[in-house]
Amino acid sequence: MTKVLFVCLGNICRSPTAHGVFESMVRDRGVEHQISVDSAGTGAWHVGELPDPRARNKAKDRGHDLSHIRARQVDQSDFHDFDYILAMDHSNLSNLKAACPESKQHKLSLFLDFTELPESEVPDPYYGGDQGFDHVLDLVESASEGLLNHILSQG
Ligand code: 4NP
Repeated sequence: MTKVLFVCLGNICRSPTAHGVFESMVRDRGVEHQISVDSAGTGAWHVGELPDPRARNKAKDRGHDLSHIRARQVDQSDFHDFDYILAMDHSNLSNLKAACPESKQHKLSLFLDFTELPESEVPDPYYGGDQGFDHVLDLVESASEGLLNHILSQG
């Protein structure tokens, strides 16, 4: 089993979007017995909450259900348990690098490393308008495709 963890700041906008989108792509390809998916935030403000309603509605418009996801904070055990720990932006990545043991640092990267798009970060849409959530979905769908192809090519 390959285990993937998506990480943002609050775990209510970007990483749950990635969690839901990647999970539905994994299911559509019939590889859910090979790949498991989770998400977490570096911050603890929203622990236990559903994803932001804007993230849920925009994802639903594209056929992705986020209603089973509840926010949680990254834990030390995540660095042992997951194979890919994918940060939405550089700030998330530096927070992860600071908390992660040396022997597990190779698991950390930017999620957008898995797309050909020029962007390196999924911008935080929390304080902006609805179009920010559409942009998150565009980036997340592209990187999810790249990530899934990468994992499946590893055999
Ligand atoms: P996320 O967005 O990191 O994509 O979940 C945020 C959600 C909440 C906050 C910041 C970012 N906040 O400061 O409460």
